[in-house]
Amino acid sequence: MSTPSETSAPSLDIVILGALGDLSLRKLMPSLYMAHLHESLSPSTRIIGVSRQLLQTTEFINFIDQKSRAFIPELNFQEASWQSFLHRLSYLSMDLSQEPAYSPLKGMCQNTQECVIYLATAPHLFAQICSHLASVGLNHAGTKIVLEKPLGHNLLSAQFINDQVAKYYQEAQIYRIDHYLGKETVQNLMVLRFANAIFEPLWRAPYIRSVQITVAESLGVGSRAGFYNSTGALRDMVQNHLLQLLCMVAMEAPISLDPDDIRDEKVRVLRSLRKMSLYDVKRDTVRGQYTAGITNGQLANGYLEEAQVPADSQTETFVALRTFIDNARWANVPFFLRTGKCLQKRQSEIVVEFSSLPFSIFPQSQQINTNRLVFGLQPQEYIHLEMVTKDPGTGMHLHPVKLSLDLLSTSTKRRAEAYERLLIDVIKGRLTHFMRRDELEQAWAWVDPILAGWQALNDRPRLYPAGTWGPPASSALMAREGLTWYEES
Ligand code: BG6
Repeated sequence: MSTPSETSAPSLDIVILGALGDLSLRKLMPSLYMAHLHESLSPSTRIIGVSRQLLQTTEFINFIDQKSRAFIPELNFQEASWQSFLHRLSYLSMDLSQEPAYSPLKGMCQNTQECVIYLATAPHLFAQICSHLASVGLNHAGTKIVLEKPLGHNLLSAQFINDQVAKYYQEAQIYRIDHYLGKETVQNLMVLRFANAIFEPLWRAPYIRSVQITVAESLGVGSRAGFYNSTGALRDMVQNHLLQLLCMVAMEAPISLDPDDIRDEKVRVLRSLRKMSLYDVKRDTVRGQYTAGITNGQLANGYLEEAQVPADSQTETFVALRTFIDNARWANVPFFLRTGKCLQKRQSEIVVEFSSLPFSIFPQSQQINTNRLVFGLQPQEYIHLEMVTKDPGTGMHLHPVKLSLDLLSTSTKRRAEAYERLLIDVIKGRLTHFMRRDELEQAWAWVDPILAGWQALNDRPRLYPAGTWGPPASSALMAREGLTWYEES
């Protein structure tokens, strides 16, 4: 007998193409397990893993059992629930480049009303996969496809992929994932900005002096060097994650919560980003590459010593840059973006620094810098507003305080991981936190001149020891404007 949720929810298959890959093992399976544990998947939902390797379903289940378990936080792991999750899995071995191989997949999904197909494969296969899926009808109205980044390596290749995919799928069926949009603090940014009256009048030039966005990682490229070496930090992180964060900070209030209204505003920001001339690239960007050092208390290889990295690689593992948004709200407010591997610690933050008072009645010795609103994305999630208050006592001494604006200390509600949140969005058909085609292409249109500039300037990456905050030129970029990166202040 079927349960109530089974009868009300349409039947659903989740197909993961590339099911034996890193993304599937580390992120997708654990996130689907969490969704299962918290009853966000209807009982009849099946998860079909697809890969080229010849495996029986039982072997696939054993493999997932061995590999993905480790990526589920111990606190959330329940053996019985994990076992019932594994029961949802089945496996299909197929060569994704061969059209006839798609018939069995069609056969498996044909009695299901809805189908989410996650392309966790190399992006150069996307066009071909979509064409083959369509040839067996797996592009019907109940189908949604999820495309992992990187979508292309420049504007032209991104347009090509988008054109090809659009031959078979409507834009509303396409979920271009950027997992940073699934992070709690990032989603909270919109609420904080648009549900509170006090920030809006100050959220602009000249009241904001600068915005910093840092996504720092303490690990190196590890086993992904093959992919990473032809990608680099600008394409891997800035083109997508950091620009998405910038959009969330800088966008105007959308006219509604409709996904297209929100995405329209993000596109406007991307269109207003100042395109860099060769001179800007030289002055306002810093490329870095890590050398051997110590991270997380351990000796770390330099990038050139990593397996699969050519000894003369010029790929950047670090980028810092300054940019401007040429519109009325943000005129002349510098936005500093920074990301890198093998940095001192894993730390992702957005720091909105407000301008100082034009005149202060307090003696200079007492002046405590500025007001800042800081959004911590990871490893800790927090939002705090830095203010100045009076030190209790008889004198008039100033004291900096951090006003916590997040619910971490007061709410015991579970915080879903980004992929879980976004997978549930896909299942429910919520497009808000996915990139629309024009958004993605606009981001590439801004990145391309930087890539071309580096090439024209023959800009070799500046070296930085693993475990530091990147090349000194990154601090110099800030110092030029009398600013410092947040952790240095
Ligand atoms: C991915 C990049 O998109 O994001 C990786 O390809 C990077 O290189 C990862 O390590 C960082 O994600 P998170 O959520 O761990 O900050």
